[in-house]
Amino acid sequence: MILTDEEKAYLEGSHGEANRLAMELLVSLGESFGAERLIPIASAHILGHYGSLHQAGIDFLEKLAEGGGECRVPTTVDPSSVDFERWKQFKIPEEYVEKQKRLQIAVEKLGVIPTWSCTPYLSINVPRYGQNIAWAESSAIAYANSVIGARTNRTPFGLDICAAITGKIPEFGLYIEENRRGSLLFDVKIDDFSDLDYHTLGAIIGSRSGADIPVIKGIPANITNDQLKCFGAGAGSAGSVALYHALGITPEARLKDPFGGKKPEEVFAIGRKDLQKMEDQISTADPNARVHMVTLGCPLLSTEELKAIFRKMQKRKVRKDMYFWIYLTKETYDIGKALGLIDPLEKAGIWFSTQTCATISPVKVWGFSHVMTNSAKCALVVPSEHDVKITYRDTDGCIITATEPG
Ligand code: F3S
Repeated sequence: MILTDEEKAYLEGSHGEANRLAMELLVSLGESFGAERLIPIASAHILGHYGSLHQAGIDFLEKLAEGGGECRVPTTVDPSSVDFERWKQFKIPEEYVEKQKRLQIAVEKLGVIPTWSCTPYLSINVPRYGQNIAWAESSAIAYANSVIGARTNRTPFGLDICAAITGKIPEFGLYIEENRRGSLLFDVKIDDFSDLDYHTLGAIIGSRSGADIPVIKGIPANITNDQLKCFGAGAGSAGSVALYHALGITPEARLKDPFGGKKPEEVFAIGRKDLQKMEDQISTADPNARVHMVTLGCPLLSTEELKAIFRKMQKRKVRKDMYFWIYLTKETYDIGKALGLIDPLEKAGIWFSTQTCATISPVKVWGFSHVMTNSAKCALVVPSEHDVKITYRDTDGCIITATEPG
């Protein structure tokens, strides 16, 4: 790679040990991907949950923090593996919390904004069109690349914080214009999309796209940001979609030909039957088996989604033999509280949790074997993390299962 004098100085250690180590990792990864140079980034979003990072993640982040590392660009952090305020209520073992707290101390020492959110693009870390950023978290990456038109690869743990500290990332993959062109066309013929349909469509397109970039025809122009968020989460978890182009919706499909003047390599038609088939495939539980826990909020709930749940929960309360857990950011929780949405729902028996989610926290301690969710991402990832069976239903179905009139 061709490095600037400043980058060479970083490598030689003249900016301290953390910067040296970070630059060494960036250069070695850049060389392995054939990058020719490092490029500046406008922001970073890093992983910081113990459930995936384990002791090696703690050691690495603490080493960078002790070595004087400090984020040079605005940097936010994905959800934690524990709710820092409610971990006792959620039965998280104390030693597990201690591990997460070490990660918390390290990221805060590194100057990371402690959002503990997978939706930083909704408030605190909002990139602009065309900006290079270095983000981790598949659902946030899909949103930033596709809906906003910022540029990031699926930045792995380790590289994310190194990019944040140096303000640089190797130029390869989706940072390069020609690599952002679509090669597959999905022709969606569905009337009356429901919220669940967007999750499911994301799962279908993600599972069929492999490493290719999908272009999607037939998404209605009135799709909401929340629906795009859920679509991208499904696509990024059922496959490795980091960027999609929705014709007439996403910026790179509006401003230019998303195929770059070429013909699609393959065309897939998607209809209502395909959605039903994917819904059936995602639901792995025996339909007659008792549901132990219903969870909403993957990706973390927005205020509009919270309002919709509030409306649907009128005159209902959580069943005695059921847990109903909803995950959201701390900001959304506080706004919901100010709007009078939270207290009645808590009184009705819902447990809210902030800064974490069911997928990355140790839900296993509860011994649940059957979980219901309205999120394709949660449904696809939770079973591998927690050894549970899944029923996948829309929000109405989840509420009806979790609650009773009251
Ligand atoms: Fe966010 Fe957790 Fe889902 S990090 S996207 S709520 S798996």
